[in-house]
Amino acid sequence: MSNRDSFSSKFGILVALAGSAVGLGNLWRFPYLVGNNGGAVFIILYLLFLIVICLPMMITEFTIGRRSQSNVFGAFKILSQGKKGKAWGKIGFISVLSALVILSFYSVVGGWTVDYITQSLCFNFKEGLDYEQMFRYSSENAFRPLIFTLVFLLLTALVVIMGVNKGIEKYTKVMMPLLFVMVILIAVRSLTLQGSNEGVKFLFRPDWSKFTIDTVLAALGQSFFSLSIGCGTIITYASYVKRNENIVRLSTETALMDTLFALLAGIAIMPAVFAFGLTPEEGPGLVFVIIPQIFSQLPMGGIFAILFFVVLFFAALSSSISLLEVMVAYMIEEIHWSRKTAVALSTALVTILSVLCSLSLGVLKNVSVLGSNIFDFMDKLSANILLPVGGLLFVLFAGWKMSDKEYFDEITNDGNLKFKPLFLNVLRFIVRFVAPLVIVLIMLVSLLK
Ligand code: PHE
Repeated sequence: MSNRDSFSSKFGILVALAGSAVGLGNLWRFPYLVGNNGGAVFIILYLLFLIVICLPMMITEFTIGRRSQSNVFGAFKILSQGKKGKAWGKIGFISVLSALVILSFYSVVGGWTVDYITQSLCFNFKEGLDYEQMFRYSSENAFRPLIFTLVFLLLTALVVIMGVNKGIEKYTKVMMPLLFVMVILIAVRSLTLQGSNEGVKFLFRPDWSKFTIDTVLAALGQSFFSLSIGCGTIITYASYVKRNENIVRLSTETALMDTLFALLAGIAIMPAVFAFGLTPEEGPGLVFVIIPQIFSQLPMGGIFAILFFVVLFFAALSSSISLLEVMVAYMIEEIHWSRKTAVALSTALVTILSVLCSLSLGVLKNVSVLGSNIFDFMDKLSANILLPVGGLLFVLFAGWKMSDKEYFDEITNDGNLKFKPLFLNVLRFIVRFVAPLVIVLIMLVSLLK
């Protein structure tokens, strides 16, 4: 993908974008954050941020990527040429860093999906087992998760080496609808379990006593994480998008699809959590504890479990590919390494960090960084700090360094697409004022609390 290719069809772009956006963020991270942050309140905040901040931001990343036709680092270098303020040319670096940090724990969770595929193939998910214990075995053991993490990373690297596009496009087209059907199926089973009502209430009836600045920050971070915003993925992919595509429409469709998957995942998981008498604050293991348990109570559950974890694995893979591509595109275009060298070195770097993340759930449990284990620290560092800061710099750049004309020309394809002036003005206002202020405010308050 480094050779300034462009996507062949509109469907191809949409699939690649959805592939990046829909992943463990929706099916693993969203449900557990909903559980940890009191349910409905978190969901409302998440949706609010999604519409007001993230959608305009996604459109903006598109604008930057397509205009510059470059990787995330080069994009700002190119677009800031001839303008004052040299430092702007370097802001892409934070994205490369975010991609590295995210991949370090993302690949560990990706490894768990590989582990659960092998377990479902052995038909290990039977009724009445202790699934918490099972998850502990899979995540806390010193060697087992390392091997699966490595498998996940190597597969990611392999696809990125082969030149991503054709590969991702082909399998995502099949996997995405399949994932959709699976999640609906699980949701239906979950909702029909006895005692699932409490879970539905938890999801949809806000308890405002749960409203804290931590919840606000977590919701902001999750909306960035889930849409792949703030780390240059959209910029990188947008640089392969043709000039006649409607980027507002593409962004809206991606955001809608992503949100649908997240909400469905919530509906699939939470009712079952309550029905099984578990607590929603299970943490990162939530999905891996609940899903096998749901399958153990479904006719032909064993087969469905295999299908589900395979599909989950592919959803994770299409996201991790987009993350590695951010690092690799940077190394190829800016440091002029070959694709192979870039992939090898970035994968090696990620491997070192992901080993630490994985061990931090077991052997290195007691090592704490600012009060969290290494895994949680990487997770929070990326979603709650690096992505919002990256996004903040992107909107400041687009809002204040790019002229209105430059910005609107890109969105309207040089005037060929007609949007209501009100829409364009609101968008520009959000990008210049609302988004930066909201992000700075939330980060400041949570820092000072
Ligand atoms: N959006 C992806 C997910 O939900 C994760 C991701 C974050 C991918 C940032 C790329 C960039 O799983």
